[in-house]
Amino acid sequence: MSKILAFTNQKGGVGKTTSTANVGAGLARAGQRVLLVDLDPQANLTKGLGLVEAEQNVYGALLGEYRLKAYPLHENLALVAGSSALSGFEKVKGDELDREFLLKELLEPVRERCDYILLDCPPALGLVTLNAYACAQALYVPLEAQMYAADGLEKVLELVGRVRRRLNPELSVGGIFFTRHDGRKVLRRETAEELRALYPGLVLTSFIRESIALGEAPHLGQDIFTYAPQSAGAADYQALVAEILTR
Ligand SMILES: Nc1ncnc2c1ncn2[C@@H]1O[C@H](COP(=O)(O)OP(=O)(O)OP(=O)(O)O)[C@@H](O)[C@H]1O
Ligand SMILES: [Mg+2]
Repeated sequence: MSKILAFTNQKGGVGKTTSTANVGAGLARAGQRVLLVDLDPQANLTKGLGLVEAEQNVYGALLGEYRLKAYPLHENLALVAGSSALSGFEKVKGDELDREFLLKELLEPVRERCDYILLDCPPALGLVTLNAYACAQALYVPLEAQMYAADGLEKVLELVGRVRRRLNPELSVGGIFFTRHDGRKVLRRETAEELRALYPGLVLTSFIRESIALGEAPHLGQDIFTYAPQSAGAADYQALVAEILTR
């Protein structure tokens, strides 16, 4: 039975999509069967992994127009495409009784066939994100290393508490990790330390450096292990994958 991990932060541009793609690719290379699901109307995960023409996407499947379609990318790695139409999800489904559980239902039949399902959440805490939290076992929260990021984090953690009580008692925070770490800039060292003190056990040891290759890879439709296996970005995501596998 697969473990469902959601990459989430309502703050934009912190590395959710980059992390979903590269943690997914790393897990697949480690022999895990991985399904990625693009839940963002921007569909950056889909484009960034080179899927250009996906006729069947997660939105149509959520609406029951067709069955869930996973496009194979590599050995052990497949992707459910995103769609700009997802931005209308809340409007279309917002009044339905089971509106928070539509994704859970959709993923149920494929859970036997994979070890990990990774959800790339949009930068908002709306109905799509609630659907992700309602079916995930663990949330992974990327934070931009150079910024004071705790306010964004608090909102996520507050929502986790509510979701646990009302929708999904199994939900936990798998980890918080820093991305886009730039050694040339002065790191707000206290950010990492304050967060470690505030949330003991939640801040991961691995962090992701700012790396040109990580920014380039999605433009070529590739994950970092395919595009630049010797890069710092590949090494950092490899370490993150190893840490996630132990949790
Ligand atoms: N470690 C890194 N080094 C260099 N560039 C990075 C790194 N991580 C992410 N980027 C780049 O930063 C931008 C934002 O990253 P990404 O799309 O992963 O963030 P996001 O949290 O998914 O954003 P959104 O909230 O818009 O969905 C992208 O252009 C990505 O290629
Ligand atoms: Mg994104």
